[in-house]
Amino acid sequence: MEEIRSKVEQIRKEFNQIIAEVSDLDALERLRIRYFGRKGEVTELFKLLKSVPAEQKKEAGRLLNELKNEVREAIAARRQEIEASFEREAYDITLPGRPISTGHKHPLTQVFEELNEIAIGLGFEVITKSPEIETDYYNFEALNIPAHHPARDMWSTLFVTDDHKMLLRTHTSPVQIRTMEKRQPPLRIFVPGRVYRLDPFDQTHAPAFYQAEGLYVDRNVSFADLKGTLELFAKELFGPKTKLKFVPSFFPFTEPSAEVSVYYNGEWLEILGCGMVHPKVFEAVGYDPEEWSGFAFGFGVDRMAMIKFGIKDIRLLYESDIRFLKEF
Ligand code: DAH
Repeated sequence: MEEIRSKVEQIRKEFNQIIAEVSDLDALERLRIRYFGRKGEVTELFKLLKSVPAEQKKEAGRLLNELKNEVREAIAARRQEIEASFEREAYDITLPGRPISTGHKHPLTQVFEELNEIAIGLGFEVITKSPEIETDYYNFEALNIPAHHPARDMWSTLFVTDDHKMLLRTHTSPVQIRTMEKRQPPLRIFVPGRVYRLDPFDQTHAPAFYQAEGLYVDRNVSFADLKGTLELFAKELFGPKTKLKFVPSFFPFTEPSAEVSVYYNGEWLEILGCGMVHPKVFEAVGYDPEEWSGFAFGFGVDRMAMIKFGIKDIRLLYESDIRFLKEF
């Protein structure tokens, strides 16, 4: 009997020390087997009961059962604790949440949305879908830029096929042709879109950038209409005091042609090309140039965004650096 009593005490002491250090379920299972397995310490202890004199059996049984329950409950409690700690680690619902910062539109998107709205206000229909991979015909030929003509040098082209029949469009002007082929005048369209050139990526150039094309075809359209329309665009976008300068220029698809600059920060910055639609362009789409007249223009949207927001390097518009974008 005394043997049992001291063994119970010894096991209890040892067990309490060990269980305090068990921190994973495998170790806990090994502990359970150590005490309750077929040759476990508690199991073995019960075998001693046989040799206890009859009058002490009851007391000995009570001690053993006490120990058994204690150990069993301690193991079960520890298991729950360990399992609960897993859940706490996986989803700690007490941690403060990560703040979700409110985003905003990219400066280019902001300018596009403004331009589209101004265009709609002036009666233009905004065409949001147009192919970025073009044929030589739409990008050049139909715009009165024949093969091998030096005018092609104005567009450093990225061809996508060896025969140079397919290319990444160098401007949004091909959409003029695509639209006129499908419709009859009068028409007034505004076409924002991405264009590509074999240009270096430097402070003022990007190999992929944005333009917005405008085309107005009707009877008796004049250069004054063009001028008035562009002035309205510029003043709505940059403010009512905006000054514009029209400089004679050359584009194969307009005659006469002009380049327009905005006075900004002490200098004139060129933002667009424009002109009266060339008769050859009307002929290419089957419009009678004697009956129809029109103007067209092509904005450099990146330039406009740079002016509007005072951005000095075009590359910043494409780096997606949140610290930069947050400023607008
Ligand atoms: N497509 C020309 C360019 O990318 C810009 C341009 C000039 C567009 C005159 C026009 C225009 O519609 O009439 O350089």
